[in-house]
Amino acid sequence: MKRYKLFFTLIALFAFANFSFGQITGSGHDFSSNAWANNEICIVCHTPHNGTATANAPLWNRQLSSVGSYTLYSSPTFDAAGSVVDPVGSSTSNSRLCLSCHDGTVALENFGGTTTGSAYVPGYANVGTDISNDHPISFTYDPALATTDGGLYDPTTRPALGGTISSTMLFSGQLECASCHDVHDNINGSFLRMSNTGSALCLTCHNK
Ligand code: HEC
Ligand code: HEC
Ligand code: HEC
Ligand code: HEC
Repeated sequence: MKRYKLFFTLIALFAFANFSFGQITGSGHDFSSNAWANNEICIVCHTPHNGTATANAPLWNRQLSSVGSYTLYSSPTFDAAGSVVDPVGSSTSNSRLCLSCHDGTVALENFGGTTTGSAYVPGYANVGTDISNDHPISFTYDPALATTDGGLYDPTTRPALGGTISSTMLFSGQLECASCHDVHDNINGSFLRMSNTGSALCLTCHNK
């Protein structure tokens, strides 16, 4: 009797471990159950061949947003203001990849040459083309900015995710959507790259 109990407990443990392991399968970014996704996951965003040869876009397979420009974040204390680039048409910002769904203007099915889709991100996930009320993105975060700001850690020395902020969280030295989010892994909820319990994510960069 006891042995059966142990057996089932182990099965349950393995099942749980398997289920809770960080992965894109079954997450909100797994569209494979939709008829238009060809029973595949990666294809909606990537292709092994003939991707859009845009800089900072890993084998990208999606139509990019054609919005002319975004309304960007600003505030009197925003020191990085001068280095912000508009993700649209920028070769240094990979946030435009997220915005190719999350600005709400490009249909989910618009990949691999299709431009006639009709399904869009749900309202809660639609950040829109006015991103001035969202955490600033698309700017250089370097030691000089940390010094000017006074309330930020030096990204080249501050430990983060097994490296430093610069080596693990920035893209071409820039802070982007993917600095905080891992599009492929929803284990922390909200596709966050680490748990934000106690605001741990925020306190990785902000010295508050
Ligand atoms: C919903 C869109 C989306 C889907 C689906 C997706 N990716 Fe990505 N992927 C991205 C974005 C955006 C980036 C660039 C941002 C980054 O690196 O985090 C990226 C980056 C990558 C990279 C380069 C950076 C790294 O993490 O090594 C690889 C490799 C990759 N994806 C593989 C895959 C594979 C394999 C799949 C399918 C199992 C997949 N992706 C599914 C959006 C997606
Ligand atoms: C192919 C379109 C597509 C791309 C590209 C894409 N997303 Fe999403 N994302 C979605 C959809 C659709 C949802 C809503 C899923 C749902 O509610 O089931 C979503 C949900 C999310 C959520 C909310 C998850 C939650 O549980 O609250 C976050 C955060 C997110 N995406 C971040 C990103 C980031 C960051 C990138 C780029 C690195 C990105 N996404 C790229 C389509 C996309
Ligand atoms: C500085 C970190 C950071 C950056 C940069 C960032 N996010 Fe988020 N995002 C978060 C956190 C933290 C949450 C979870 C909020 C919560 O649970 O209340 C979140 C939540 C979301 C959600 C879920 C809906 C919501 O409003 O809670 C979406 C969608 C999303 N982010 C998309 C994006 C996109 C697209 C970008 C780039 C344009 C981006 N994020 C940039 C930290 C960030
Ligand atoms: C990867 C590093 C990083 C993470 C993670 C991060 N931030 Fe930031 N944040 C920055 C940088 C860099 C700036 C730009 C500061 C400046 O130039 O004044 C900034 C700007 C801000 C600003 C605007 C400051 C101003 O003066 O207008 C606020 C508020 C803020 N972050 C809050 C948060 C919160 C809340 C979180 C967690 C949900 C968070 N940040 C996560 C790096 C980060």
